[in-house]
Amino acid sequence: MTGTRHLIGLLLGTEEDWPSAFEEILRRLGPVAGAGGTRHTFDCERIAIEPFSLRARPRYDLAIDRLAYWYYHPREWLKKVALMDGVYLLNSPFTFQSMEKHAAYCAMMRLGLKVPETVLVPYKNPVDNARYAYTAARYNRPFDLDAIARRIGYPLFMKPYDGGAWRGVSRVRDQAELHAAYDASGEMLMHLQQAIDYDVFARSLSVGAETMVMRFQPEQPMHLRYAVDHEFLSPQVGAEVVTIGRLVNAFFRWELNSCETLVKDGEVYPIDYANACPDLALTSLHYYFPWAIKALVKWCVFTLVTGRQPRLDTDTGAFFAIADRAGASYADKLAGYRQLADAYFETERYDDFCARSLPHLDEVVLDWAAGPAFDGLLIETVRSTYPAHEHDHFIAHLRGLHGLWVRDETTRVRRHQ
Ligand SMILES: Nc1ncnc2c1ncn2[C@@H]1O[C@H](COP(=O)(O)OP(=O)(O)OP(=O)(O)O)[C@@H](O)[C@H]1O
Ligand SMILES: [Mg+2]
Repeated sequence: MTGTRHLIGLLLGTEEDWPSAFEEILRRLGPVAGAGGTRHTFDCERIAIEPFSLRARPRYDLAIDRLAYWYYHPREWLKKVALMDGVYLLNSPFTFQSMEKHAAYCAMMRLGLKVPETVLVPYKNPVDNARYAYTAARYNRPFDLDAIARRIGYPLFMKPYDGGAWRGVSRVRDQAELHAAYDASGEMLMHLQQAIDYDVFARSLSVGAETMVMRFQPEQPMHLRYAVDHEFLSPQVGAEVVTIGRLVNAFFRWELNSCETLVKDGEVYPIDYANACPDLALTSLHYYFPWAIKALVKWCVFTLVTGRQPRLDTDTGAFFAIADRAGASYADKLAGYRQLADAYFETERYDDFCARSLPHLDEVVLDWAAGPAFDGLLIETVRSTYPAHEHDHFIAHLRGLHGLWVRDETTRVRRHQ
C-alpha cells in the first residue's frame, strides 16, 4: 500500500484553544484511506516566522492562516507559497483586498441580495499624508451628511467600511448622534447603513462545504452570544441563510468565514460576511466548538487526500451571469448561486468522501470531547481568558453547555449506527 504524508501548518496569533483541539483530533484520527487504497497520514505544525528565500520550498501542503490579515511578513510568505508552491490555503491572502465589508457589500448587492441601503462617506479627518491636504482642498466636495442620513432614515448604523469586533460601530438615532459619531470617526472610513429592525439574528460559520447556522444575540456578553437553539428559523429561511454564506465564500474563494444575517418577516438581510479570522473560540462557540473543529479537520483532510487544487482566481462572471438572467426571481438566482457554490466546494464529493473515508471521525471527536483531554483544554482556556475570580463560574458554565453537546451528539451518533 502506498503512503502519503501531509503536513498542515498553522499560522497563529494568540489562539491556543482551537489549535490544541485541532492538533489533538488530527492525531487521534490516524491514517485515512484514499482512492485506490492509498494511505494518507497527517502531521500538524505551528509555522514560525523567520527569514525565507523566495525560492525555498515550504514543507507544508496546507496552511490555516489566522495572522496574515494583520501582519505583512506572514502575508508575504503566504503569497509566495500560494503562487510558487501550490500550498492550499484557508484563506488565500489574494482575497484580502475584498475582505472588508465594503467589497463584500458591493458584490452581494450586485448579485441581488438584500443588503441594507449603505453609503460610504469620505474621511472626517484627513489621513496623515502631506499631500492629502492639497488633494482634499482641491477635490473633496462639501456634502450634506444630514441629507444622506435623512434619506437612509433613522435609526441607522455608522460603522467602518472594514470593521470588525465592533470597532467604531454606533447606532445613530438622530442628527446629534449622527454628528457625534462622524466627528468621533476621525481617520476611519465610514459607512452609513440602514438599520434593520430584525426579529432574529442568524450567524453562520462555514468551513469548506459545511455550514452551521446559529442564533446570535449581539446584545449579550461574548460567552452568551451564541444561543443553543436548533429550530429558530423555518426550513426555508434556514436554507437561504446557508446559501448566502456559501455564496459569499464561493464568490470570494473564502473557505473559513462567518456570515451575519438579520431576519425580518422571513426576509434575510446580510450585514457582515467578510471575516479573515472568524471567531473559533471555545468560550464563545461553546456547544458548537466540537462541530467547528471537526469540520476543519474534515475539510483539511478532504482537501489533501483528494488533491483538491487551490484556486487563486475568482470567477465573478459566472455569478454575474445568474444575477443578470432576464426574468429570474430572487429564489431562482439563489438556486443558481447555490449550484455554483456547491460546485466550487465539491459538496457532493465532500459528503461521499466523509462517509467513505471518515466514518469513524464522529466517534473519535465524541470520545475526545467526553473525556479528560477536552476538560483540561476547557479549564486551560478559561484560566487564560478570564480573571481568577470568574474561573469557577465559567468552568461550570462551559461544562454545562459542553455536556449538553455530548448528550445530543451521543444520541445522534447512536441513531446513525
Ligand atoms: N444594518 C444593521 N441593522 C441592524 N443592526 C446592525 C446593522 N449593522 C450592524 N448592526 C449591529 O451592530 C453589530 C456590529 O455590526 P457589524 O457586525 O457590522 O460590525 P463588526 O465590527 O463586524 O462586529 P463583529 O465583529 O461582532 O462582527 C451587529 O452585530 C448588529 O448587532
Ligand atoms: Mg459583525
